[in-house]
Amino acid sequence: MTFTRRRTLQLLGGSAVGLPALGLGLPALKAAVTGKQIDTVGKVAFTNRVQAPPLAPSRIDREGRRVFKLNIREGRREFTAGRWSPTWGVNGDYLGPTLRAERGETVLFDVANDAGEATSLHWHGMHLPPTMDGGPHQTIAQGATWSPTWTIDQPAASLWYHPHPHGKTAQHLYRGVAGMFLIDDDDAATAGSLPHQYGIDDVPVIVQDRRFIDGRVDPDEQMAGTTGFLGDELLVNGVHGPYLDVLTERIRLRLLNGSNARVYNFHFADNRTFHQIASDGGLLPTPHTTDRVQLAPGERAEIVVEVRAGERLVLRSDSPATGSGFVQQDGGSDRFDVLQLRAASTLTASPRIPTRLAHIPRIAETSATRTRTFELAEHRINGRQMQTDRIDVAVRKDTAEIWDVHSGDGTLHSFHVHDVQFQVLSVNGQQPPPGLSGWKDTVLLPPGTAMSLIMRFTDYSDPNIPYMFHCHMLYHEDQGMMGQFVVLSPGQRVGGRPPRLPAHEEHAHHS
Ligand code: C2O
Ligand code: CU
Ligand code: CU
Repeated sequence: MTFTRRRTLQLLGGSAVGLPALGLGLPALKAAVTGKQIDTVGKVAFTNRVQAPPLAPSRIDREGRRVFKLNIREGRREFTAGRWSPTWGVNGDYLGPTLRAERGETVLFDVANDAGEATSLHWHGMHLPPTMDGGPHQTIAQGATWSPTWTIDQPAASLWYHPHPHGKTAQHLYRGVAGMFLIDDDDAATAGSLPHQYGIDDVPVIVQDRRFIDGRVDPDEQMAGTTGFLGDELLVNGVHGPYLDVLTERIRLRLLNGSNARVYNFHFADNRTFHQIASDGGLLPTPHTTDRVQLAPGERAEIVVEVRAGERLVLRSDSPATGSGFVQQDGGSDRFDVLQLRAASTLTASPRIPTRLAHIPRIAETSATRTRTFELAEHRINGRQMQTDRIDVAVRKDTAEIWDVHSGDGTLHSFHVHDVQFQVLSVNGQQPPPGLSGWKDTVLLPPGTAMSLIMRFTDYSDPNIPYMFHCHMLYHEDQGMMGQFVVLSPGQRVGGRPPRLPAHEEHAHHS
């Protein structure tokens, strides 16, 4: 047991509000606080070279659409030497290729499912019609191919994709189905001097925690804390003990927390400052100079860090501000060595970071037609458990709404909304920190934090097929901490009941 008394007291102090809600007595609390801390700092060998995931090939069809072929399938991978683990992946054994398209392009995906059971593929962060979203209502049966198509119309950003079958998202993502989806646009090209050579000075960093039992990951291991599964070792882009060769003075890392439940507080071992240039939905207005960036599951941040010739620099994570006080249960006291950057002995010069990045028109608070409140507690949102045949919220197309969200049970949650990128109006009534000054689709909600989000619903309406909003702690999501909203055009009303899914897809079950 290595964490300090001071930290314990801090955490206890911070948790006072949530305790009665959980009904935990002092002995239970003590057990939670004195649990074993995971600490891999200084213990990771960094012997395996990691690279950017491959870019997915695509072709332009006769209608001018950019067409990708994706195949969700079973595989196996040697995460640790000599030990093979069964996995799932997209066009490969584990994880999937990076998808890349430009704003204005129409994309078409042929997503074939050979995983052996029904799943789905959701485009997290994407503005698109609900029928193309890849949520629980677009399940792909084993052996079937799903072919969504839409026109990309949102700023350059680092989005991602992952399965979203009702009740089994945690398990399917844990097996390895996930990848990055990068959007490019002209503005980002003129924000210009940002590092942008994919795989050289512009590299996705997908961070996932896993537990290896005899070299194998066990996808049925759901629970390890209040938020779901917490692993004790990390993978970056599916590589265990990873190092990344750096050839340029500055490198852009597109960080994705692709974990089921773990929150990371990324920083470099020497606490050097770096620039955060983007959040979930695209570039920030200006670079944010900081030495820390915290990411909840599903969140992304792009950072640019400067390296010195020949150095070895370790990216770490420690003490994420999970705020619940149950350090054992939510990973709040765990520390990790994440990735080693190995700078070449001579580095190619990189341009300076521009002082302005993106113009983000603010959605005026006064333009909101409605304010709603969402309380996340006990595997429910506002007391309701997800039901695929119930619409929870109907919003009007071309209106803005304020969604006030908070944790109501003294434990850690996050909040993600499909279809839109939102802006954070306030955090506990205060101006949001610089890292939350751009477009967001997912936010961390520690107990005691209330966030006010503003979003505009545009372009697509459908009275029958809903989008999702949910906690991105995947165990919570699977347990029902999710709701459904439809976007209605003028004159439209909520249609009949949305399709109930076949019974075998309604419930989480182990196979
Ligand atoms: Cu990242 Cu509803 O999902
Ligand atoms: Cu999503
Ligand atoms: Cu939650």
